[in-house]
Amino acid sequence: MASDGANQLAVNGGPKVRTAPWPARRLFGEEEKQATVALFDKYTSAGGVFGYNGEEEEAYCREFAEFLGGGYADAVNSGTSAVYVALRSLELEPFTEVICPPVTDPGGVMPVPMLNCIPIPADTAPNSLNMGPEQIEARITDRTSAIIVAHISGLAADMDPIMEVARSRGIPVVEDCAQSHGAKYKGRYVGTIGDVGAFSTMSGKHHATGAQGGVVYTKSEEMYWRARRASDRGKPYGIEGGGTNVTCSLNLNLNDMAAAVGSVQLRKLPRIIEGCRRAAHAVAERCRPLKAVEIELGLPETEGAFWFLVCKLDVDKVSVDIDTFVAALQAEGVPFGAHYTTPFTEHAWYKNRSVFGTSGYPWTCPLYEGDPDEAYPLPNRAEADRRLFIVKVHENVTDREADDIHEALRKVEGAYLK
Ligand SMILES: Cc1ncc(COP(=O)(O)O)c(C=O)c1O
Repeated sequence: MASDGANQLAVNGGPKVRTAPWPARRLFGEEEKQATVALFDKYTSAGGVFGYNGEEEEAYCREFAEFLGGGYADAVNSGTSAVYVALRSLELEPFTEVICPPVTDPGGVMPVPMLNCIPIPADTAPNSLNMGPEQIEARITDRTSAIIVAHISGLAADMDPIMEVARSRGIPVVEDCAQSHGAKYKGRYVGTIGDVGAFSTMSGKHHATGAQGGVVYTKSEEMYWRARRASDRGKPYGIEGGGTNVTCSLNLNLNDMAAAVGSVQLRKLPRIIEGCRRAAHAVAERCRPLKAVEIELGLPETEGAFWFLVCKLDVDKVSVDIDTFVAALQAEGVPFGAHYTTPFTEHAWYKNRSVFGTSGYPWTCPLYEGDPDEAYPLPNRAEADRRLFIVKVHENVTDREADDIHEALRKVEGAYLK
């Protein structure tokens, strides 16, 4: 016999906490439309076409770098390309190892084997979706050539000790900021702490250049020029005297139309970040009295950007597993989710080594001096899968949604508390 509380759950046929749809983001509006129309008017009235690396893209890159406090930005066509170009700007030797996050989008890892480097997963910090310094250190070998740190969900990873580990070994750090535009760590924007930052600007993110896009950011002029060359077929940008194409790469440019949209979006970004923070704190405040669930607001001295909210379930206090708990939450009409991303080590491309035909490269190349079959256990990541779940928030989530998130959690927790 189910308890009264369990009978009331929507998953068991009880009334739902929420029947209204979740609010829409409405990221693009009249201003983005006008910026695009203005671009058409400017170029087509003169009989020309707009392209890339023009006034609009130059302005956007300047504004993006200014937003982060100065430095250099190269706009590219996706966040995946941004990670690729950021790695190219480090001039990694092939068949070296790059430490990668175990919780990330495939686009945050796939550039590594595309560069003939070996992706090595580090574990997450305990009860976190981000890698921690000890977990990174445990994976460093004399073959490690770079570390990619992702700030998942808009919560900053613990950058000071991570940079200490990296600097003490002379290993460069790429910050993957696809989910964390505007997040801060001890007063500094994420993306400005490592050697180079990679941002996604696709339309699901806090900041977008239209449908797809990305930005590579660095404080180093030299790395900036390397990034520019890597994102545009090795054109001799930044090289005195110019000459022919100096390196082999792809055409990963953004374009002036996307950049014009991006400039409008940059002006909206502070308000968007503020809205996400307000929503996160409104939910966390309401959830404080809960007994088995806690909302993660990030490490001390950080300011999250909250691309989604991470919720921690104390599995010892409830009588069901996370799948049952989250299924009950979803049935209440609120966008909760369990198991955020499958670790890349479980993807077919990684398991089958399917990157370059049937060669098994880069793992099987004789020039790789590590063990291509080495297993990399991720116990914290596995534990996070049992304990962490997410709920989608954004800048248009109001107190009403915060109330509904809390009410769904209260109701489900109440039904399943031991
Ligand atoms: C952490 C992370 N890295 C990289 C990417 C890839 O970005 P894009 O989809 O713009 O290629 C994403 C996309 O969601 C991401 O979340």
